[in-house]
Amino acid sequence: MFIKHLSLASFRNYQGAEIALQPGVNLLVGPNGQGKTNLVEAIRYLSTLSSHRVAGYLPLIKQDSGQAAIRAMASHADRDILVELELNRDSANKARVNKSPVPRVRDILGIVNSVTFAPEDLDIVKRDPTNRRAFIDELVVQVWPRFAGVYSDYERVLKQRNTLLKTARQTGAKGSALSTLDAWDQSLISYGSEIIAARVDLVERLRPHLFEAYQSIAIANNEPRILVKSSLLGTKIPSGWGDDDDVEDLEYIQTADRAEIEALYSDKLAAVRAKELERGITLVGPHRDDLVLMLGSLPAKGYASHGESWSYALALRLASIALLRAETRTGDPILILDDVFAELDAGRRARLAGMVAGNEQVLITAAVAEDVPSELIATVFHVKHGEVSAGDNAGEAANG
Ligand SMILES: Nc1ncnc2c1ncn2[C@@H]1O[C@H](COP(=O)(O)OP(=O)(O)OP(=O)(O)O)[C@@H](O)[C@H]1O
Ligand SMILES: [Mg+2]
Repeated sequence: MFIKHLSLASFRNYQGAEIALQPGVNLLVGPNGQGKTNLVEAIRYLSTLSSHRVAGYLPLIKQDSGQAAIRAMASHADRDILVELELNRDSANKARVNKSPVPRVRDILGIVNSVTFAPEDLDIVKRDPTNRRAFIDELVVQVWPRFAGVYSDYERVLKQRNTLLKTARQTGAKGSALSTLDAWDQSLISYGSEIIAARVDLVERLRPHLFEAYQSIAIANNEPRILVKSSLLGTKIPSGWGDDDDVEDLEYIQTADRAEIEALYSDKLAAVRAKELERGITLVGPHRDDLVLMLGSLPAKGYASHGESWSYALALRLASIALLRAETRTGDPILILDDVFAELDAGRRARLAGMVAGNEQVLITAAVAEDVPSELIATVFHVKHGEVSAGDNAGEAANG
């Protein structure tokens, strides 16, 4: 798929912009802080309802504006779809598809598919579990958009269950509070198991694509493999919330069978019940799980070199592209490469160029066009002070 036209209003540093994007490679060039990342962030937000830079959406609304709008004409197999998203500072966000309002904003998920690779992705390999959960969950939702609802149900139940546990801790666990807790447990187990099963299933589907992507980018004979570590299987009872050390003790879950996972979940909840009442917080479930990114026989985190970690992060995104191409009906997702060429050596630049050049639409941001391999310079846009202008021709940018 590709985006034919993008309109932004009061989005980040854009007052208003109309951009006629082209199929193939679109290169956005301009000095630092002009709005290149902001532009691609708008497309990413339309496709995942999340940003690679911030949690929440308020920073996306232009300073001193009450409302931002992103509008995109997406095209696939000669069919055009107009997707519009309105972000409001003080009221609920709204979305429209082909001019008709949709009941929930998340109903636009699955219309525009995109995969972004940015320097921040190194965090997936090197940092805490939150980054890896975000990676896998975003992909789950792109492949199976109905999961947006499952995640939001799980979060709602988790929040309410935590409130109940906190109250129980303050007032002392009594009969009625405990039976309410049992009811919440059922919903937690049901939604949580669905999420865990989807993650295991997706990791399995991603595996061949990851292998291929890593081999082509790193030209190393090292096999990348993802394992799902689950709090349902840890032997030690978790001690706290968001405490990274706990995760070390968790074990790998291999089944994607819902019933099996539900049984494990229910046993584990029973085992940690006293601890949960003592701490006032839900200690097991997908919100506590992690992915272990293996490279050969060692985890990448803590062992892989800087260059290997980069290749791993890039391979995760390239594998995501291949997976979405195989599993969705919208063909190639839009590939966004935000500021990556400046960070790659000549060999990796050339290999990356070779791998992405054939994608239906690619958006590349760079401060200077010289960092981008010349075979990727097709349509050029100059970005300055939140304004976008079309470059004269490819030769102009390539020659500086
Ligand atoms: N909500 C907002 N309202 C107004 N301006 C904003 C908002 N959010 C970000 N900006 C401005 O946008 C600019 C950053 O734009 P962006 O990140 O797109 O730069 P860039 O062109 O990608 O630069 P670089 O080459 O350094 O990556 C900053 O000057 C920032 O102050
Ligand atoms: Mg940028």
